[in-house]
Amino acid sequence: MPATRHEVPAVLRPIVEVAGPGVPPLLALIEARLRRAAAPGDGPVDEVAERTVAAGGKRLRPLLAILVAGAPVDGAPRDAVVRAGVAVELIHTATLVHDDVLDAAPLRRGRPTAFHTHGRAAATVVGDRLLAAAFAEIARGGDPEPAAVLAEASRALARGELLQRADAWRADVDEARYLERCRLKTGALFAAAARLGALAGDRDPDAYARFAEALGVAFQLFDDVLDVVGPPEVTGKARGTDLLDGTMTLPFLLARAESAELAALDPTTIGPADAEGVCDRIAATGAIAATEDRARELVAAALAALPADDDVRRADALALVARGVVDRRL
Ligand code: FPP
Ligand code: MG
Repeated sequence: MPATRHEVPAVLRPIVEVAGPGVPPLLALIEARLRRAAAPGDGPVDEVAERTVAAGGKRLRPLLAILVAGAPVDGAPRDAVVRAGVAVELIHTATLVHDDVLDAAPLRRGRPTAFHTHGRAAATVVGDRLLAAAFAEIARGGDPEPAAVLAEASRALARGELLQRADAWRADVDEARYLERCRLKTGALFAAAARLGALAGDRDPDAYARFAEALGVAFQLFDDVLDVVGPPEVTGKARGTDLLDGTMTLPFLLARAESAELAALDPTTIGPADAEGVCDRIAATGAIAATEDRARELVAAALAALPADDDVRRADALALVARGVVDRRL
């Protein structure tokens, strides 16, 4: 497949520079295949699916798969890693589309969601189709193991979402249960990306999956911090969206332990007009710094536990990914 012209997202450029010249062509291939897989031209939801994928994020999960696999020095595409990158990004996008349906979210990344523009039914089908496209992509590789990895990650995502719903409005959830939710809803897909990369590159799948899972959990912790601190121009959504959805995140849970006023607050009574004020009160405690510390500790431990690597570029690039998560640039 010919490589297409594709700009590497600015936040990834320093990582890609360290990782070597083999990486941009792989990202470009993934981007082209992603667009085609999302919108194969055979249905009325093509345009919505295409736009959803195009409005997408930084392609962090595909990058993780590529880095763990080790970019081919001669720039030759490595089919398994391209498939892995496409499939994990399709699953990621599908979960966000479904998440927006479940949360009735009007905005994601500053743009109207498929739910908002096309309604519940169309958005649900778009998410379903993206999910089906992910499995079709991985199945074409002919090896059952990557498909099993993706199936397991998808199951974890669904369990994470169910756990979040079971715990909605419950301000008494403990930190361990909150972290398990983060592991399921975010860590598992990061882990799958790394595991698929490791399988493609003949590395230790468990070691890289553990590293990526911790990175994913840390990523979710920072995401939950951003929901409290904003600003909306950066996050693309209003502050306090989690509170309004009943999603009790670590910043709120830790702030309640510090502030009697927040501890006495019944989360079901928080309305859109109060959400920013509650966020300000959370931010006035030490809960933001404490949540960020937890995330940094997780990432540091995960980095330290990575196996010694003879590929210095890969080690440096993965360390940069870890730093990007910790510095909230990714
Ligand atoms: C976004 O997190 C949501 C997720 C990471 C997972 C959502 C999972 C589902 C909807 C289950 C469906 C599963 C499959 C396999 C299609 P968030 O709500 O914390 O972040 P946000 O602020 O970006 O909405
Ligand atoms: Mg959400």
